[in-house]
Amino acid sequence: MAKAQKINGVRGMNDILPADAPIWAEFEGVAQDVLAMYGYKQIRTPILEQTPLFKRGIGEVTDIVEKEMYCFTDSLNGEQLALRPENTAGVVRSVIEHNLCYNAPQRLWYFGPMFRHERPQRGRYRQFHQLGVEALGFGGPDVDVEQILMARRMFDELGILPLKLELNSLGNADERKAHREALIQYFESHQDILDEDAKRRLYTNPLRILDTKNPEMQAMVEAAPRLLDYWKDDSLAFLKRLEQMLSTAGVEYSINPRLVRGLDYYNHTVYEWVTDKLGAQATVCGGGRYDPLVEMLGGRATPGVGFAMGVERILEVMREMGYENNDPDTELYVMHSGGDSQLYAMNLGEIMRDAGYDVIVHAGSGSFKSQMKKADASGATFALICGEDETANHKVTVKRMFGEEGERFMQQETIALEDAIRFFVDIDDLEVEE
Ligand code: HAM
Repeated sequence: MAKAQKINGVRGMNDILPADAPIWAEFEGVAQDVLAMYGYKQIRTPILEQTPLFKRGIGEVTDIVEKEMYCFTDSLNGEQLALRPENTAGVVRSVIEHNLCYNAPQRLWYFGPMFRHERPQRGRYRQFHQLGVEALGFGGPDVDVEQILMARRMFDELGILPLKLELNSLGNADERKAHREALIQYFESHQDILDEDAKRRLYTNPLRILDTKNPEMQAMVEAAPRLLDYWKDDSLAFLKRLEQMLSTAGVEYSINPRLVRGLDYYNHTVYEWVTDKLGAQATVCGGGRYDPLVEMLGGRATPGVGFAMGVERILEVMREMGYENNDPDTELYVMHSGGDSQLYAMNLGEIMRDAGYDVIVHAGSGSFKSQMKKADASGATFALICGEDETANHKVTVKRMFGEEGERFMQQETIALEDAIRFFVDIDDLEVEE
């Protein structure tokens, strides 16, 4: 048979290999502990949603909806579906569908893959993971601040501080409308400088033009009417109270009037946490308030606020800051000489697992020398050797592979099977002679 051609994974969608598992587990463990501290409950929604949910939720004239969504028609029933590019819209859909806010407001969190058809580069992938929170039914700004503190606590425990917190307010709908009209007028008077993208967005989403990366438009954009000049008393009071709460909690931040975020559902608070360790893809977390969204998606008006962290980016910062996994891969590696000793070894493996140890029992055959190499490579702290003598006499030979500091030990000791559990009860206290 001709050699079959190999099939690779999809570009921009990464495998998370066993060597990466510990850093993911560290992140998830820290995040879940902190989420529990603040009373957030997990919600799991599907990866596929109906395409119109994102079009309406995120906004038709956004990069995500215009260029980055994986949309397809289900050939079995003609439904228009999309792989979720984010999960605020999905969570809000679920909350409306199940009437979750009927009695009480909700503090929710989720973790999982999101999909955006972007050009892959370091920190930017087509499948990436977000840890996100959404609080529904709270008018703020106290819960806005609660979430900022929660994120800061996670970053602190993950060892990735300092990060920069950039903050802005998008005001309310009326203020944005007045600002939008002023923006359109301003951009109309600079038609000659607008690029194609900007011209296309002029009447549909002029705010997004402020986000441009085009150097030739920078000066013109810098001088455009600023939203903050349109804030009225309520928005000013909201922002003032938010700033007061942040200062009291000792959170450092800077106001960035050009921060508009890439999704249309926001009002009032928007923010991003930014690192200086990753080059271009520097935003590790983004969020804000989205009071209009529940109503836009067909629910009863309910305020909302949330954030999402880019997990790959956070892990990358953890690596840059010198994260090291110190947990042993496995504790015990059981070796045998085949025949009855294999049965004896398998039984010993189960006994030690019952006692709570992580055990690999050597699979297949092989000389003790080659088994010892495998035991070494497994990272096990001890090898348990079941040769013919041990099997016949209900014993086991114990050999310590690595010490606390990774040092190696040569000597070994043969003990009775019934003593084996006690022998390991406190591995750290075990006296081993050099
Ligand atoms: P977002 O700013 O689009 O917001 O994404 C949040 C974070 O996801 C970004 O700051 C970044 O760290 C990460 N991220 C986004 N795209 C990629 C990518 N292609 N590759 C790797 N990481 C990426 C949202 O998604 C909103 N739903 C956040 C939110 C929740 N607002 C309110 N509630």
